[in-house]
Order: sequence, then structure tokens, then C-alpha cells
Amino acid sequence: MTDTTIKQASFASSLLANRAAQLKAGAAPAAARDMIAFTYGLPAEESFPAKEIAEATAWVMQHQAASALQYNSPEPLSEFLIDYIRKEQGIELATQNLLVTAGSGQALSLVCRLLIDKGDYIVVEAPTFLGAVTTFRKAEAEIVEVPLDENGMDIDALDKTLTDLRTQGKSVKFIYTIPTFQNPTGVTMSLERRKHLLEVAERHQVLVLEDDAYHGLLFEGEVPPWLWTLDDKGIVLHCGTFSKTLAAGMRLGWLGGSADLVSRTAGLKDEGGTNPFAGYIAAKFAENGRLERHTNELSNLYRRKRDRMLSGLERYMPDGARWNIPHGGFFIWVELPEGLDTVKMLSKAVKSGVNYLPGTACFASGKGNNTLRLAFSFVKLDQIEQGMRILGEIIREEMESDA
Ligand SMILES: Cc1ncc(COP(=O)(O)O)c(C=O)c1O
Repeated sequence: MTDTTIKQASFASSLLANRAAQLKAGAAPAAARDMIAFTYGLPAEESFPAKEIAEATAWVMQHQAASALQYNSPEPLSEFLIDYIRKEQGIELATQNLLVTAGSGQALSLVCRLLIDKGDYIVVEAPTFLGAVTTFRKAEAEIVEVPLDENGMDIDALDKTLTDLRTQGKSVKFIYTIPTFQNPTGVTMSLERRKHLLEVAERHQVLVLEDDAYHGLLFEGEVPPWLWTLDDKGIVLHCGTFSKTLAAGMRLGWLGGSADLVSRTAGLKDEGGTNPFAGYIAAKFAENGRLERHTNELSNLYRRKRDRMLSGLERYMPDGARWNIPHGGFFIWVELPEGLDTVKMLSKAVKSGVNYLPGTACFASGKGNNTLRLAFSFVKLDQIEQGMRILGEIIREEMESDA
């Protein structure tokens, strides 16, 4: 088909402003299969429970076809979530506290639609999830970064940032945080920091958007309760997803929060109830503890991949490189010696059959030239060692050529 002859000037300005609109949707998995792909936070394809999803689909079509195929909301999925959250987090929710969305990505954009006017401020962790920053930019928000360390967001720095912005008369709409197995660093926020964050947010009268995309993918130890669970002031909006634990292609996530905020957000959706077909199937799949069992199996697989990557890092990274040990999720964050440029290095790596995400993509301000994010989720277990060897060689070559 021929390309449109209508000039770009006809597009909405917000779309033009957004470089991501130029990316081809769906390109990532195909590109990732051709190399040792450490770039994308894609789930492991070998883990998809295709047979069980087929069985759940057959059951739903036999018993619930009229509801699942109708304009509808996926009520069984909301019921599953209410039950799951009661058992897991000990909080009692009503259906008005939850909204099923097309992945948590849709929840992020709906929250922007609810809260953001052009020029409003959002505070994010530095580094943070590229997709969220893209969504916030599409909403024409201004983004301010607060640093993060091995215990999560630096809450004293957050406090100071909020004070400074208020002094300048800026309107901060929310703080966006990924407190557990953060994307891109893998770091988990301590309980103490979580409580401190809530205290600071309440004092400054700013909402918190908690994104828990990697929920349940725990390799060892424990994870503190959600910010949403600790919140008794109704200031936390929480989003979760089935993308990492069931199937990203089902496009199912959710937004949780006070009935007031969630029902206002529901009113902003364009498509009515979200994916009732997929939602009914996911609820059937998940029943009787099956989602938790599947999530545990995934955690075992991802733990083995993480361990393989950590031993590759130990073995092949040059002196001066530093990385963290994530206790769950998909990512390891690597800092190379100052002066190295991971953006520049990427084309060399790709030519050698390995890719990764340059850290600059994870900073709203574009800094972090000497950093990179390695995803161990998608790559096959037996490719990790080779990938780390190639990467180590390229980094050493870069260091030598810089010397
Ligand atoms: C932190 C975080 N939030 C949200 C998402 C979006 O997930 P989805 O829209 O598939 O639910 C991702 C996906 O990579 C993520 O890493």
C-alpha cells in the first residue's frame, strides 16, 4: 500500500513530539530472536503456558462464551484479584478499587489523562522505566529525577526536590516509583524507605503511582508490603500486570486505588470493559493457585538465568565494572568505568550478535553514558555465557582504545 500523502503537519502536536511514535510496534521480539538479546524486558518464550491457556480457553468457550464474547468487563478477573490481594497483602478491596486495563501501560496513560495538564510535574526515579517516561512525555508532563541507591529511591532527595518545586510554584502531580525489582536496576525499596516515602508524599500532598510490574518474581528473601498496602490516606495508585507472569500478549493489567480515583479513571477509558475475552481466560487459568504455582516456576527459571549472568559478569567484566545482585525481576544494572560510552559501543556489540539497553535510555535526563541494562529474562539459558563473553571482550577493547 502507498504511504499517506497527507503532510506531517496534520498530526496532533503531541504525537509529533513523541519520537516513540516512529518506532515500529511489535518489532522487538522478532529482532530479539536473531541475537543474544539482553535488551528487552521480554518474558521467556519457553515459559509460556500455551497448553494450559488453550485448556482455559476451551473451558471458557464452553461455559462462559456469552459473557466472554460480549461487550463486558472481565469480572472473574477482578474477583480473582480481590481475592489474591486479600491473601497476599491483607487488604480488603471492593470492585470499585480496581480497574482492569490493557496492560499496566494503559493504567499509566490513564493516570496521566486523569491528572496531567501540559507542564505539570512528575517525579521519577533515576534511572527508571523508559516506557513510563515516554507515556509521561506524551501527556506533556515535565519530568524531574530523584536518585536511587541499593535501597530504592533516595527519599531525603525526594523531600528536597518537592520542597524546591513547591517554592518555585510548580505543580507536582505524582511520584512514580517501581519499588520492587525496579526496572532497570533490579533494586527493591526497603520497608523503612517505603514508610518514609508515604510520609513525605502526604506532607507535600502529592499522589504516588506505584508500579509493580515484576510482582511475584522473587528469587530469594522477602519483599516488603506494597506502598498501597501501607497507605492509610488514599494517596497511592497502584498498577500491576499479567504480562510478566502469564502472557504479555493477553494485554491485561490493572489499576488499584481509592474508589474515587479509580472510578474517575474508569470514566476516561475509551473502549469500555477491557479485553473480556482474555480476562475470562486469565481468570480461569489463575484459579486454585495455578497462577502462583506458575509464577514460582518462572522465578526458578529467572533465578537460574540471573545466576548464569552473574557468573558471566564475574568472569568476563573488566576491573572497574560494577553491578548489583537483584533478588527478583528481569534486570541487572551495570556501571562501567567513567568515560566509556555504551551508546557508541552498542553498534559493535550488535555486529557481534549481542545487544543490551544503553543506560541513557533509562534516564529522563539522558545521562548515564557509562551504564547499561542487561535483561536476563528473554535470552535462552545456554546463550548467556557466550553473550557475556562477547560483551566482556567488546568492553575491554573499548577500554584499551580509550586508554
Ligand atoms: C516497570 C514496568 N511497568 C510497566 C510495564 C508495562 O507492562 P504491560 O503494559 O505489558 O503491563 C513494564 C514492561 O516492561 C515495566 O517494566
